[in-house]
Amino acid sequence: MDYFNYRDHQLFAEDLPLSDIANQYGTPCYVYSRATLERHYNAFSDAAAEHPHLICYAVKANSNIAILNVLARLGSGFDIVSEGELRRVMAAGGDPNKVVFSGVAKTADEMRYALQLGIKCFNVESESELNRLQQVAAELKVMAPVSIRVNPDIDAKTHPYISTGLKANKFGIDINDAERIYQQAAAATNLQVVGVDCHIGSQLTETQPFLDALEKLLQLIDRLQQQDIVLHHIDIGGGLGVRYKDETPPHPSEYAAAVVKRLKDYPHLTLIFEPGRAIMANAGILLTKVEYIKPGQEKNFAIVDAAMNDLIRPALYSAWQEIVAVETGAQHEQQQYDVVGPVCETGDFLGKDRMLAIAEGDLLAVRSAGAYGFTMSSNYNSRPRAAEVLVDGGNCHLIRQRELWQDLWRGEQTLP
Ligand code: LLP
Repeated sequence: MDYFNYRDHQLFAEDLPLSDIANQYGTPCYVYSRATLERHYNAFSDAAAEHPHLICYAVKANSNIAILNVLARLGSGFDIVSEGELRRVMAAGGDPNKVVFSGVAKTADEMRYALQLGIKCFNVESESELNRLQQVAAELKVMAPVSIRVNPDIDAKTHPYISTGLKANKFGIDINDAERIYQQAAAATNLQVVGVDCHIGSQLTETQPFLDALEKLLQLIDRLQQQDIVLHHIDIGGGLGVRYKDETPPHPSEYAAAVVKRLKDYPHLTLIFEPGRAIMANAGILLTKVEYIKPGQEKNFAIVDAAMNDLIRPALYSAWQEIVAVETGAQHEQQQYDVVGPVCETGDFLGKDRMLAIAEGDLLAVRSAGAYGFTMSSNYNSRPRAAEVLVDGGNCHLIRQRELWQDLWRGEQTLP
């Protein structure tokens, strides 16, 4: 459920017509709905209400500080993968005590910064990382809270680029090595073992792989308990899928309830989720204008002012995202189009073979663009990155201005 709906042939974001937003802020422009993202967050948190839990929103999905701030106000924690993301969380007023730090290549500097802030936990991904963390914590004379990210070898049955829980993936520590590493962590002078985590992939459309991973983690927890290594939290990562086209992923509340149910014999184990997409994808659209209609012998092209640099998912993963006309009242002929951008690459498309009744100058909305949209955008072809706005009922807030021309070469220097 989201709050992008038609009223009188006009697509609205909450109570505002998208055409007004385009007039005010120009295109391409990312438009987010506060009510939608809050609804998604609450779906997780309400379903988990009876069990101690913490939602650590995955910052990489959408890291705008206004979005992080809205979530922080709801009590959200954050899953980060870099010092940059942690700095964003701090700039947004997030609580470092609710931050978990994932990622395969944490530098000593990043560890230092996170330790000084007092984050909740490091999700450690290798033995070498564990050793480095011990060393940095010892230098600072603090205890580093540690969870081992285990790789449970579960097939998430998702796109190979976003599957992370298989032996063949670079992520986490083989679950069969985990006990040994936990013993090592428990014996280290400056590490405090607090939890376990996994993240098996993204855009999962079934609950079962999550439950399979959970089972493996619980078995590990039981084995560790017998060795007097007691964990306080279990973090089952992110990965819940959303509907882009005709997928039927479980609702966040259904998914969270299934996990909570399995944990009823573990009342003292705090449950952590790291959702990104499930909170943000359908809370945002990319608003773009049709610059040219270019009929061809084999294909008709709708050339729009947004491109792969703004939204790379279609080009990178062949991802399908719905594209709709913002105004549907006019009597244009319906035709099949490839919706393409201005970038000089054949791979620069937002959608192929789409039936649309449009003319030059019309606005289109690429739906489900709130997650992994702006955060994966670039300046390729020297295109300033798009503006971002957040709609809240009848109000619209500019939360990131469109980049200026001089932003394009900021920090660059010609030779003396
Ligand atoms: N936790 C960890 C450790 C992760 O690596 C990720 C995502 C998440 C949580 C959040 O997963 P989510 O709930 O959003 O599925 N760019 C790709 C998705 C890459 C996901 C990477 N890791 C896409 O556009 O589909």
